[in-house]
Amino acid sequence: MISGAPASGKGTQCELIKKKYDLVHIAAGDLLRTEIASGSDNGKRAKEHMDIGQLVPDEIVVMMVKERLMQPDSQDKGWLLDGYPRSLSQATKLQGYGFHPDLFILLEVPEEILVERVVGRRLDPVTGKIYHLKYSPPETEEIAARLTQRFDDTEEKVKLRLHTHHQNVASVLAMFEDTIIKVDGSVSKEAVFAQIDSALTKLLEQRAEKIGSAIA
Ligand code: AP5
Repeated sequence: MISGAPASGKGTQCELIKKKYDLVHIAAGDLLRTEIASGSDNGKRAKEHMDIGQLVPDEIVVMMVKERLMQPDSQDKGWLLDGYPRSLSQATKLQGYGFHPDLFILLEVPEEILVERVVGRRLDPVTGKIYHLKYSPPETEEIAARLTQRFDDTEEKVKLRLHTHHQNVASVLAMFEDTIIKVDGSVSKEAVFAQIDSALTKLLEQRAEKIGSAIA
């Protein structure tokens, strides 16, 4: 699981983790944006909450994430949950369904950096890749011309999202105390990934050792 304030770099790190560890990336925000794009009633209701930076109600988001976690690719390869759970009730329900993370990664980034990251973020609708006009600019003119901006990526809306984050984060962290690693998310994306990579490598080594000693 990966958690952190809005624009702390969750999606960016998930791209890198997925590339190296071949996990199935499940982002609650992406699932919700897909639902909005489908024009469904749930999508319309979700957008009303996302517009004001509030959490989308559990009756929409909980089943959506659970169903994605239960699909065969998530079960076979392992999953990487991004931006979920975000409240005590979501964390409790997830545990009740039997989903436990091996590691809970918390990205820590000072608030003044977050606003700049949000307003400069752009997305490539073709590849889904995340860019930043200053920190991660597009590689070609062709990509630059097709980049889009999220409807909630304004300074005003990120402040609302931050408020919601602060209201909920402590209760979620308390549920995963024994698996949390805190990562400095204010450095370059490569330096952030190096911290995560080292924790994941250690985890896999410990697991291999356990299996080895069980066989012996
Ligand atoms: P969601 O889409 O999850 O938004 P968020 O939590 O606000 O997080 P972001 O996607 O904005 O940021 P990120 O941490 O992924 O950062 P990124 O890597 O893109 O949720 C949107 C809304 O959906 C919520 O407000 C809520 O309404 C609803 N929702 C979602 N989950 C829910 C749930 N569980 N329950 C109920 N409602 C839910 O990076 C940001 C920018 O910074 C990019 O431009 C990137 O290039 C740049 N960047 C990244 N890392 C670095 C770095 N190290 N240095 C410099 N720049 C960097």
